[in-house]
Amino acid sequence: MRKKAKYLCQECGLQSARWLGRCPSCGTWNSLIEEVINPRKNVSNSSIIGVEKPCPITEVPLQGEDRFPTGLGEVDRVFGGGLVPGSLVLLSGDPGIGKSTLLLQISQLLSSRMQVLYVSGEESTRQVRLRAERLGALSPGLLLLSETNVDIMEHHLRELVPQVAVVDSIQTMYKSDLGSAPGSVGQVRECAAQLMRLAKAKGISIFLVGHVTKEGMIAGPRVLEHMVDAVLYLEGDRRQFFRILRCVKNRFGSTNEIGIFEMSGSGLIEVANPSALFLTSHSQGAVPGSAVAAALEGSRPLLVEIQALVSPAGYGTPRRMTAGVDYNRVALITAVLEKRVGLNLGSHDIYVNAVGGVKIDEPAVDLAIACSLASSFRDKPVDSEVALAGEIGLTGELRPVTGVGKRVKEASKLGFKRFLLSSQCAIEHTVGTRILTAETLATALDQAIKA
Ligand code: TYD
Ligand code: MG
Repeated sequence: MRKKAKYLCQECGLQSARWLGRCPSCGTWNSLIEEVINPRKNVSNSSIIGVEKPCPITEVPLQGEDRFPTGLGEVDRVFGGGLVPGSLVLLSGDPGIGKSTLLLQISQLLSSRMQVLYVSGEESTRQVRLRAERLGALSPGLLLLSETNVDIMEHHLRELVPQVAVVDSIQTMYKSDLGSAPGSVGQVRECAAQLMRLAKAKGISIFLVGHVTKEGMIAGPRVLEHMVDAVLYLEGDRRQFFRILRCVKNRFGSTNEIGIFEMSGSGLIEVANPSALFLTSHSQGAVPGSAVAAALEGSRPLLVEIQALVSPAGYGTPRRMTAGVDYNRVALITAVLEKRVGLNLGSHDIYVNAVGGVKIDEPAVDLAIACSLASSFRDKPVDSEVALAGEIGLTGELRPVTGVGKRVKEASKLGFKRFLLSSQCAIEHTVGTRILTAETLATALDQAIKA
């Protein structure tokens, strides 16, 4: 067989016959690396799934499609009820965030009911055992393997046919007939494709651990993300205790559910009632620059405190920094505050932070961001008993949000007496919480920030 050398972009997987300094597809510099590719037959989808000819949708066999719960409620919530047999799931996140811990916990829980194979390419089986001991009772149904050669791994998987397998991590796996180093796009793609075919053919649910590069991308992100059935991100601030499991792709359910965990001395613990995590001792003393947003993550309401600091810029271009909220969203809200409300923020440094290191990208937090900015700028506290939800439009209007009932209920549970939102919202009957409405950002600010 003739081997061909090709250049592959390590960011987006683009193939090129010659080396280029800059990837023409994603624009990354110096990302093309030479990889030897074996010319071979392409495996078509039909041979993966095993359906040879077109068949009526009603006659497609359904066996093996029953989900099975992992035993961790927060994980099942993210999957939409449990794991689907034969699915390939990518779990990615920063190093040290707890991916191996989470998967080892899931493996232990599942191994009491079925056979689970945990393949570690990063740690020895002894290391994995030590960690597993700290996480709880060891189960003989959990098999460990320390291996990085994907062909040897396939051999074991074919022999054992466990219901669930964990591959930690996909970047340490390699195929010896590819010339490139483990972790390169070519290797990652080939190994994942091989495991994908195996998962479908044998009905094994496989978890792949994927590391995130320093730019926040999984190495070979696009090639892996479209290949797998579900993509999960484990995120959080490593110096803090809680972790959020977020689903960015899910072929078997909705993608907007999140799972919340706390990292403890004995592994990740589920947090059933998370809102209190992202509030500081807010209600005790109102400080300028802080406001509480009632966000909705999937079907779950989450109260998050947004803090802002606006201070006159020393010299040069003012600094703008955000953590946990979208930078561009803050820029837009700042512009609206300048133009429609008349706050002269242009010559000020602006810092915005979501408490607890949580990442929130729902437009409903706009109002809380705007209130915290205006509050810090005017040096007047936001009403500490009000929770906020509203999207801000470019003309300065306050736009409605969905799921008002859930947000208000959660806020009321946590002791907020008032709830401010757009007057266009469909407001349901509420007990214990007074609903305040506003049409524009300016009138909303008047209600939230007392002069
Ligand atoms: P790990 O699962 O190894 O992260 P990843 O696989 O994503 O790289 O988690 C490592 C961190 O988790 C480590 O810094 C220590 C912490 N940790 C705990 O706090 N408690 C525990 O019970 C375990 C196993 C780890
Ligand atoms: Mg790990």
